[in-house]
Amino acid sequence: MKKNLFVIGIGFLFIGASIFSACTKEGPMGPAGTNGTNGTNGTNGVDGSAKCAECHNPTTVDLVSMQYEFSKHGYGEAAFSESGTVGCVPCHASEGFIYVCKNNVSTAFVENTTTHKWTNPYATVATASIGEITCVTCHSSLHTTYGKADLSPLTTVAPVAMTFFGGAKTINLTADGGIGNLCVKCHQPRPFTNSNTNGNVLNYDSLKNFPTVKFYDAAQANGLNKIKPGYRTHTHYGTAGAVYAGMGGVEFTGAAYTNSWHTANASCQDCHMATQTGRAGGHTFVAKTNFAGCQATGCHPGLSATSDPTHWATPRADIKAKLEALATKLTIGGVEILNRNPDATTNLWAGITTKNYDGYLNIYDPINNPTGVDTNPSGMFQSPSPSSSWTAAQTAYNLTLPKITLTNAQMGAIINFQLCLRDYSLGIHNYKYTSVLLANTIAALP
Ligand code: HEC
Ligand code: HEC
Ligand code: HEC
Ligand code: HEC
Ligand code: HEC
Repeated sequence: MKKNLFVIGIGFLFIGASIFSACTKEGPMGPAGTNGTNGTNGTNGVDGSAKCAECHNPTTVDLVSMQYEFSKHGYGEAAFSESGTVGCVPCHASEGFIYVCKNNVSTAFVENTTTHKWTNPYATVATASIGEITCVTCHSSLHTTYGKADLSPLTTVAPVAMTFFGGAKTINLTADGGIGNLCVKCHQPRPFTNSNTNGNVLNYDSLKNFPTVKFYDAAQANGLNKIKPGYRTHTHYGTAGAVYAGMGGVEFTGAAYTNSWHTANASCQDCHMATQTGRAGGHTFVAKTNFAGCQATGCHPGLSATSDPTHWATPRADIKAKLEALATKLTIGGVEILNRNPDATTNLWAGITTKNYDGYLNIYDPINNPTGVDTNPSGMFQSPSPSSSWTAAQTAYNLTLPKITLTNAQMGAIINFQLCLRDYSLGIHNYKYTSVLLANTIAALP
């Protein structure tokens, strides 16, 4: 064995010698050159898993993602159903929201100088009109530096020029660096437009300044009827932000309008993203049954649904009673103007009032409101806008129902009812404003 290894060794030496002889064909090495100038430093690479773990750990993103499954932002179906509709997605789809924030899309109505018709420009574009509301919708810089700092900034904290007023009024909630403005950008009411005439935003001031003028009457010249009321004549659902800010109501004269302490000093997250308890708090955004935010130091120590009636049960009972008193006054010839709907799956506000008003109008609509008479013993109103798609029987039935007329004061009262009902908090958001708005409205109706 040893001998064989030796022979192999000699063989390698021999091959090695012939390689050396090949190298000797080049000339001898010259003297070393001078050193070159140093190159610029390269940019730092992204750190590996240690940095990712600043967020991707059980108490940060993992936990928040779990909470988020219980947020209607996450499990709600509106993002899916409204995606693709450019006027709806500024509030319902991730890309639409990001687009209107980034481009600062105006809410001021625009006049066509040829037709003199007005349109609402608050919309995204077809190429940015999709997406469930998710982490990136609100956290605009995720995965840019890959560190925890990427949780900031939020997509917007800028003051919100309200679409309800065609941009004429602006909400600016300054507490906690303006985080409330992020919420209000979506949680704001939508405008009423003069859909029967020039399409411009409704002049809400005229409703309170000329309360007895007819807002709608089929008997008067059509051009005087700016809106033909229908079951869906409403200010949409996101009224919480406007009530919270003390804006958006038709402010009938009477007691002075002021805001509760919350408006200037608390932020939406204080109550809606408080320490998680059960299925509420944190990124569930649910305030229901979670008093952790209310109990914060300096606020309402010990507050619960039963322990502190001054700050819960009493104001809520007062607003409920006022909503019901206003609804009772909103009748014509004994028929209620406001729709009732006891079904909690279709009426998000079921239970807020004893008669389960939903903020829609008690007007016949074969698709959306075929059974108004069943749920409202006072009957229901004829639709002023029968559709050619209705069956002959539906058209004939509609004609058997009483006609609706509305004064400016009644229209203003409907708007205020919708705002305060759909605010959902029964005064907790802004008791002072809600209470005065409803009281002055009740007083304004004969
Ligand atoms: C600022 C916090 C933060 C940091 C730092 C961070 N991430 Fe994320 N990451 C998130 C969030 C938020 C999500 C979305 C979670 C969700 O949708 O539930 C996410 C999602 C992900 C996903 C899933 C992607 C998807 O589309 O569902 C991957 C993969 C990921 N991150 C990788 C990383 C890696 C790798 C790093 C480090 C190089 C990192 N992340 C650093 C916050 C962070
Ligand atoms: C991009 C728009 C958008 C932003 C920003 C936004 N929301 Fe929402 N929010 C919605 C929409 C839309 C829904 C209803 C979703 C559905 O039903 O599919 C909703 C639902 C909710 C609900 C549940 C309402 C219910 O009927 O159960 C709460 C509470 C809520 N949001 C609070 C907040 C708070 C607090 C903030 C700010 C931290 C905020 N939202 C920011 C659009 C937004
Ligand atoms: C200015 C923002 C905004 C715009 C624009 C908007 N919405 Fe909404 N919408 C909201 C908010 C906020 C909610 C949730 C309010 C709540 O639950 O308190 C909501 C709720 C809804 C719901 C009820 C979802 C549920 O939980 O049952 C439907 C349906 C809906 N919107 C449809 C539409 C359609 C259709 C359009 C366009 C024609 C539209 N929205 C435009 C803000 C908006
Ligand atoms: C509707 C807007 C909104 C959405 C959607 C949202 N966040 Fe947040 N998030 C906030 C706000 C507001 C804060 C508080 C910021 C502050 O205090 O500066 C916050 C704070 C955080 C924080 C730091 C504080 C904490 O609660 O731990 C984390 C982590 C976080 N978000 C992760 C996520 C993840 C993960 C998702 C998606 C599953 C998500 N967020 C979706 C609005 C949102
Ligand atoms: C002082 C505490 C507090 C603050 C601050 C607050 N909310 Fe609320 N919010 C509540 C309470 C309480 C309810 C009613 C919950 C219930 O009874 O189920 C509510 C209800 C809501 C609802 C309807 C929830 C549902 O389950 O249908 C929305 C949407 C909402 N708030 C949005 C906001 C927005 C947007 C802001 C900031 C502009 C805000 N809230 C600030 C306490 C608060």
